[in-house]
Amino acid sequence: MGVRILNGDCRTVLDPFGGAGTTGLVADRLQRNAVLIELNPDYAEMARGRIVGDSPLFAEVAT
Ligand SMILES: C[S@@+](CC[C@H](N)C(=O)[O-])C[C@H]1O[C@@H](n2cnc3c(N)ncnc32)[C@H](O)[C@@H]1O
Repeated sequence: MGVRILNGDCRTVLDPFGGAGTTGLVADRLQRNAVLIELNPDYAEMARGRIVGDSPLFAEVAT
């Protein structure tokens, strides 16, 4: 939701508490890049799976 209020020139979103990756998923849908930082590897993997699962042809996730 927060991604939508960003300035139109913003191409990359930083979420230092990435969790299950909702910020990254929405950023991808809005054709923004996203950098997520997550302490818990289980959540990091969940975020990766959600983002790729939401857009398997276009999402590129580096972990
Ligand atoms: C409420 S969730 C964030 C939700 C996320 N912003 C989203 O869009 O779905 C908070 C997350 O921050 C992570 N976290 C807490 N302390 C952290 C730290 N020092 N560095 C990285 N991640 C941290 C927790 O593991 C938890 O998954």
